[in-house]
Amino acid sequence: MKPEIAWAEAMKFENRPEPYRFFDKLRKTPVARVADGIYAVTGYWELLALAHDPRVSSNMSRSPLAAKSPAAAEPPPEAEHMKAYGRLPSMIVSDPPDHDRARRQAMRHFGPPHTPHLIPSMAPDIERLCNELLEKATGKTRIDVVDEYGYLVPVTVICKVLGVPLEDEKAFHGWIFDFMAGLDLGPEAATEEGKVRAEKGKESTAALTEYLHGLVEGYVRKPGEGLLSKLVNDGGPDGPMEPKEAASNAMLLLIAGHDSTVNTISHCVLTLLRNPGSIELLRRRPGLIPRAIEEVLRLQSAVQFFPSRSATADIEVGGTVIPKGSAIFLMYGAANRDPSRFPDPDKFDPERRDNEHFGWGSGIHTCFGGPLARLEVNIALEVFLRRVENPRLVVDPPPYRRNQIFRGPQHLLIDYDRIRD
Ligand code: HEM
Repeated sequence: MKPEIAWAEAMKFENRPEPYRFFDKLRKTPVARVADGIYAVTGYWELLALAHDPRVSSNMSRSPLAAKSPAAAEPPPEAEHMKAYGRLPSMIVSDPPDHDRARRQAMRHFGPPHTPHLIPSMAPDIERLCNELLEKATGKTRIDVVDEYGYLVPVTVICKVLGVPLEDEKAFHGWIFDFMAGLDLGPEAATEEGKVRAEKGKESTAALTEYLHGLVEGYVRKPGEGLLSKLVNDGGPDGPMEPKEAASNAMLLLIAGHDSTVNTISHCVLTLLRNPGSIELLRRRPGLIPRAIEEVLRLQSAVQFFPSRSATADIEVGGTVIPKGSAIFLMYGAANRDPSRFPDPDKFDPERRDNEHFGWGSGIHTCFGGPLARLEVNIALEVFLRRVENPRLVVDPPPYRRNQIFRGPQHLLIDYDRIRD
C-alpha cells in the first residue's frame, strides 16, 4: 500500500476506532511523503530525532498548511481551520524564544518552583467529584463513561485552575465540539458535509475566541482567582502576558486542559474491559494503576499528532529528505507501536517497564499539563475500579469522535451490577 493511500485510510472517519493497521503500513517508510508538501513520521527513532531538532519549527504561520496556496483562489479547508487555531500565537504554535517565555509565564502559576502546591492540592476535590458522579449512577446499571464520568472531572478541574466560570461550560462545550469536528485532515474534509463542518467549526472557534478575550479583558480590569488572571496581572521576571496572547493561551489551556484527559479516561476503561483479567489485576495491585495508564497512553495516544510543525531546512532522516518548507506530522500514536522500540507493540501490558512513549509528546513542547492530567486519570480510574462492580462494554468499538488529532470515543456505554459504597 502506497504511503498516500495508507495515510488517507488512517485519516478516514470509518477507521477512527482502529487506525493502527494503516500506521503499520505507513511505518514501512518511517518518514513518508503522504500528500503534497506533507511528511508523516511513524518510526520511533526518526520521530525522536525530529522532536528535538531545532530545524523543525512549531510556528504555525510557517507551515504550508497555514499558508494560502498561491495557485488556489481559496486555501484548502483544513488550512483555514488550522489557521483559526494557529492565528493567535499560543505557546504550542510558537518557537523559542517566544515559546519558552510564554511557557515560563504560564508555568509560574501552575507548577514548581513557584506554585508547587496547586496540583497536589486538587486531589481531594478530584476524588470527591469522582465519588459524587458515581453516587449519581447508583440505582442504575448503565452509564456513558464519557458524558457521565470522564468529561465532568477534567472540565471542572481546568475551569477552576484557569478561572473560567463553570456555568459557561454549556456554551464552550458546544463551541469546542464544533471546533474539533471541523478540524479534519482527511479526505472527508473536501465533501459537502466536511465543508459544512469546517464552516461551523470556524464560527464556533470565533465565538470561543471572543468569549476568552472577554474573560481575559475582564481580569485585566478586575483581577480574580485562577491562572488567567495571574497571567495578565503578575509581574514575574518576564512581566505579565499581553491580554491577546493570554487569550490564545487560554484557548489552548482550556481545550488541551480537558479534552485529552477525557479521552484518556475513556481509553483506560475501554482497554481494561477489552483485556480480561486486567481489572482484577489492578484491583489486587492498585500500585500498578499509574503504569497501566502510561501503557494505555502508549497504545491509544489521546494526541495522535499535532499538525503545526514544518521544516526550516532540508532535513535528512530515516533515508528520506524532508524538503525545506514541508509540513511534518510527528505521528505519536504510530511511533508508540513501533516494534523496533516496543516488543509486542500491540499488546496491552500493564506491567510494561521500559515504556518511554510519546503520549505526552517529546522535546520543548512536551505536555505542559502532564502532572495534572496524571493525577486526574489516576484518581478517576482508581475510584472507578473500586466502586463499579462487574463493568461490561455495551458496544465495541464505541462510536468515536471525528477528530484525527485528539482521538477518543464520543460515548462509552458500560453496564454494571451496582455501585459499591
Ligand atoms: C491525558 C491528558 C493529556 C495528554 C495525553 C496530553 C498530550 C499532549 C501532547 C502530546 C502535547 C505535545 C503537542 C505537540 O507535540 O506540539 C501536549 C502539549 C500541551 N499540553 Fe497536554 N496533554 C494532556 C493534558 C493536558 C492538560 C491537563 C493540560 C493543561 C492543564 C495540557 C496542556 C498542554 C499545553 C499547554 C501544551 C503545549 C506545550 C508547549 O507547547 O510547550 N495538556 N499535550
